[in-house]
Amino acid sequence: MTVVALDKFLSDLDQLTATAVSAFQAASAADVLEAARVEFLGAKNGRLKKSQKGLSHVDKADKPVAGKRFNQAKQDIEAAYETAKEKLAGGGTEQAAAFDPTEPGRRRRLGHGHPVSQTIEELTDIFARLGFNVAEGPEIEDEWHNFEALNIPPSHPARDPLDNFYLSTAGGGAADRQLLLRSQTSTVQIRVMEKATPPVRIVSLGRVYRPDTADATHYPMFHQIEGLMIDRKVTMADLKSVLRMFCSSYLGEEVHVRFRPSFFPFTEPSVEVDMSWHGGWIEMGGAGMVDPNVLQAVGYDPEEVIGFAFGLGVERLCARRHGIQDIREFFKNDVRFLEQF
Ligand code: DAH
Repeated sequence: MTVVALDKFLSDLDQLTATAVSAFQAASAADVLEAARVEFLGAKNGRLKKSQKGLSHVDKADKPVAGKRFNQAKQDIEAAYETAKEKLAGGGTEQAAAFDPTEPGRRRRLGHGHPVSQTIEELTDIFARLGFNVAEGPEIEDEWHNFEALNIPPSHPARDPLDNFYLSTAGGGAADRQLLLRSQTSTVQIRVMEKATPPVRIVSLGRVYRPDTADATHYPMFHQIEGLMIDRKVTMADLKSVLRMFCSSYLGEEVHVRFRPSFFPFTEPSVEVDMSWHGGWIEMGGAGMVDPNVLQAVGYDPEEVIGFAFGLGVERLCARRHGIQDIREFFKNDVRFLEQF
């Protein structure tokens, strides 16, 4: 059996003690401390255990000294471990004391719908009560639905490239199927009538796009509400009644609706719809009796059915109700503005 010199045994022991003590002191979390405990104090393979085995290799005469020093080292290491353990537990108590369950909690900020979305929901509700179903159409349209079927011929200035967001047609294929971002929700009238047989009573709410410079009353994207009612016997009086009922539901009984003669290719006669509410008249959109050419374009017989249509600006309605002066506010997404609604 090899004999280990006392000097070597003692210096190894000192080094082990120093390493172990500093490892315990440095342990900043319970799992780190536990790993150090296993490394140094582990009952099976701990480094102190190995040192203890080394004790048996020390010369018999040196054993009392070596044994005594070993016990001392063991105590030191164990003490360092206990201190570190208490220190970590103490940290925990400090944290627990910092948590005061009687303090009011931090409130989470809850968002809500954008004012335009809220308006869309409300308008949809009102028209649902008046018996109108909701229809949807695509924001990328073809010229048939945005113009042609609405009685807007190629020569019409509304089709000017400077007044529309035309999209380049996909390479090859039907070059005559020019696409654009829809400039009005009247497109949905066509899409609905192409599929449905009268009677038809729908509203459609959504985005439209026009290359306008943004100012207090214009924005290149805005929302419209489109209405369409087709049946055997529908009159301008029905149109006015529906719009009046709608406006007084949305703004209140004191609202007045006024028609001014106008022109739209897809209605005959056509009117501008103005509303007065707590002050002067403001223009809300257009309306009229659906032009026979439009009815024909979708395969309806103008001798059989008749109807009215209208299109109003959603932002305008919302701005009127809340006294908002500048349409751009809706799209800046400044929470200080949005959270007021
Ligand atoms: N589409 C028109 C516009 O964007 C508004 C409009 C006018 C819609 C008359 C209609 C209507 O349905 O009958 O200016």
